[in-house]
Amino acid sequence: MKVWAIVVAAGRGERFGAPKQFLELAGRRVVDRAVDAVAAADGIVVALPDEVSWDGPEVAATVVGGATRSESVRAGLEACPADAGILVVHDAARALAPPRLFDRVVAAVVAGADGAVPGVVLSDTVKRVAGGVVTETLDRADLVASQTPQAFRAPVLRAAHAPEPGATDDAALVEAAGGTIMVVQGDPVNMKLTTESDLAVAGALLRLR
Ligand code: C5P
Repeated sequence: MKVWAIVVAAGRGERFGAPKQFLELAGRRVVDRAVDAVAAADGIVVALPDEVSWDGPEVAATVVGGATRSESVRAGLEACPADAGILVVHDAARALAPPRLFDRVVAAVVAGADGAVPGVVLSDTVKRVAGGVVTETLDRADLVASQTPQAFRAPVLRAAHAPEPGATDDAALVEAAGGTIMVVQGDPVNMKLTTESDLAVAGALLRLR
C-alpha cells in the first residue's frame, strides 16, 4: 500500500511572531527536519505560505496552504494521488520527530485502525477553567498529549475533511466522524516548537545527539 505524507508548513507563527518553521535549528531548518521525519513515505507534499518558494529536500509537490491548519491539510490532500492508501500528516513545527514515529503510526493503520497518533503521558495535572476559576480536574491517567505524524486510511481522512471542518489535529476530525484512532507510543522529545524557549531546548537536544 502506498503511503504519502503531507507536511503542513503554512502557519504564520502568530504566537511566535514569525514563521518559526523556516528558522535554522542546529544548522538545518525546522521544516527540513520535519520532512526528514517522514522521509520513508512514497511521496511527500509540503504546504507552504503563498510567498515562500521551496528550497528544502526534494519532495513530490508543494502546495499553497490555507488560512487554517485544516485548510492547509486539505490543500495537501489534493496533491496526494488517488492510489495512496495511507496518508500521514505531520506538523512542520515538529522538527524533532524520530522517524520511528512514522513507522509506528503507519503500522497501526496497516494493522487495521482508521488512524493512529503518537501519544505521550502528561506530567502536569490538567484542569478545566472558566473565567479564571477551575471547574474540573481531569484524571491524568486517562489523558495523553497527541503529537504528529498521524496516519490514516486515505478514504477516511478524505471523508473527514470533505465538509471542510476545522480542528487542531486531523485525528479529531476522524474521531468526530466515528473513526477509530489508535494511540502509539509518542516521544516527549517530539515537541511542537511554539515559543522561543522551545527552540532553545530543541537546539540543545540536537547538539547532544
Ligand atoms: O499553529 P499550529 O500549532 O496549529 O501549527 C501546527 C502546524 O500547522 C505548523 O507546522 C504550521 O506551520 C501548520 N499550519 C499550516 N497552515 C496554517 C496554520 C498552521 O500549515 N494556516
